[in-house]
Amino acid sequence: IVLEGRDIPSIAKFLKSDECKNVFLMVGAGISTSAGIPDFRSPDTGLYANLAKLHLPYPEAVFDIRYFSQNPKPFYTLAAELYPGYYRPTITHSFIRLLAEKGKLYTCFSQNIDTLERRAGVPVEKIFEAHGSFATQRCIKCKTEYPSEEMMQHVKKAEVPHCTSEGCDGVVKPDIVFFGEGLPDTFESAIRNLEEADLLIIMGTSLTVYPFAALRSMVPAKCPRVLINLDRVGDIGARADDVALLMPCDEAVRKLCDEIGDGWTEELERLWAE
Ligand code: OAD
Repeated sequence: IVLEGRDIPSIAKFLKSDECKNVFLMVGAGISTSAGIPDFRSPDTGLYANLAKLHLPYPEAVFDIRYFSQNPKPFYTLAAELYPGYYRPTITHSFIRLLAEKGKLYTCFSQNIDTLERRAGVPVEKIFEAHGSFATQRCIKCKTEYPSEEMMQHVKKAEVPHCTSEGCDGVVKPDIVFFGEGLPDTFESAIRNLEEADLLIIMGTSLTVYPFAALRSMVPAKCPRVLINLDRVGDIGARADDVALLMPCDEAVRKLCDEIGDGWTEELERLWAE
């Protein structure tokens, strides 16, 4: 047993100790809800509960590659709302940066496509965008990259962009991993590092989408797993050093920094105010 208790003081004590060197994070849509971006599966506010206007056969179809290749319009109707650029990182994103500045962060595995980790100043080499992002885009037929400036113009107007390569008129899709597509090639090698984990913090995810959700089982048995989420998800609680903090993540990271002391709170607030 590594943690003295299943509470914030015990996590804080371990996190600032020299034994805790390699912190891994698994994050999802719940860390961006306070920025104004809806998550997917919350019953009333989640995206999947609010897609009636798109007339989809089932909600996830909006991110399904087979559906998209036949009918890309619903995705682009939604993309106009989801496109990064309108949103500011949350204090939870700044906490991720703080972990990096303290030399504790090994990798932040994110399912989010909003790029708010980068915008909060988390070093890019510490972020693994497992489901891709809106940063680049390409034709789904010939795979030719499409210019970001033109992409933005289309997305703003909820128009479907088409490939401009000679003889190709394929639909352009952002490099987001859709259902039915594989994760980035580097995923397998990145997850091998989880064997080195001293602490795993899981924030704002329902842990329902695989293979991402399986990462929680890849840390060593002695590695404490901390879940910070509005509701209990996955099998967190099954291991002796599992802790569930069932509260908004912004509140939890503030409490954690207060408990750590040593100027962590001031630094967190300073990074967030930047
Ligand atoms: P979900 O919407 O499935 O889960 C979000 C979780 O965050 C829920 O358990 C919420 O209770 C919790 N939550 C919401 N607001 C919170 C807050 N302020 N503080 C703490 N917890 C909060 O989102 P993901 O797990 O990220 O994939 O979804 C996984 C994948 O499903 C996404 O990457 C996306 C989606 O389909 C693709 O599009 C390929």
